[in-house]
Amino acid sequence: MRILVVADIHANWPALEVVLQEPHDVCLCLGDLVDYGLDPAPCVEWVRQHATHAVRGNHDHGAAQNVFVQGKAGFKYLTGVTRAITRERLRPDQLRYLGRLPVSKTVTLNDSRFLLVHASPRDPLDEYAPADVEFWTRRLQHIDVEVVCIGHTHHPYVLTVGEKLVINPGSVGQPRDGDPRASYAVLEDYKVELKRVEYPVEKTIATILQSELSAADQEMLCEVFRRGQSALLNGHRGN
Ligand SMILES: [Fe+2]
Repeated sequence: MRILVVADIHANWPALEVVLQEPHDVCLCLGDLVDYGLDPAPCVEWVRQHATHAVRGNHDHGAAQNVFVQGKAGFKYLTGVTRAITRERLRPDQLRYLGRLPVSKTVTLNDSRFLLVHASPRDPLDEYAPADVEFWTRRLQHIDVEVVCIGHTHHPYVLTVGEKLVINPGSVGQPRDGDPRASYAVLEDYKVELKRVEYPVEKTIATILQSELSAADQEMLCEVFRRGQSALLNGHRGN
């Protein structure tokens, strides 16, 4: 069984479209389907119709519940300015779908138990979980699964923690580790591969430039898509 693991799509349909060309039997989606990118509808619709299992991210929750984000700078600021457009571009049933996604899910695949959660088992929507064995040893003490899949950090990693495996596939739609290519993971026969793929980023950027965002906001967003990071936004998480 070939398992495709995706996270943090962030409404970047050109990136998701390319990632989905990866052959797979099962697709696990770890949340944050929306915000930042401005093509939310096809992303939500694909996950809704095709992902085998999906969980809710902090941005899905925020968009569904119309949470007001007060950020003067950084990714929080960009969340605030893109959220209104996100909500305009989704139908009520699509917003309801985001709000009803479970915050965590345990599934059995290939005789292994998987915990799927957007951020961390302690705080499924918001905790920033680094690639740190000590951190994960504490978090996994009472978790009875073989594999934990998380997203949220936008930085891919695979960690072996005792007998358990922690997989963060990185971000499909808004990588922030200095590599602008879409990031995802494939699991097959107990082997994990972190993969990167080029996608037509100019299509994503065209969507931003055609929007009603201010020129300064468009520039901030486009820099992250083009460079896979942002000097301006460094130090601001708002994952
Ligand atoms: Fe995210």
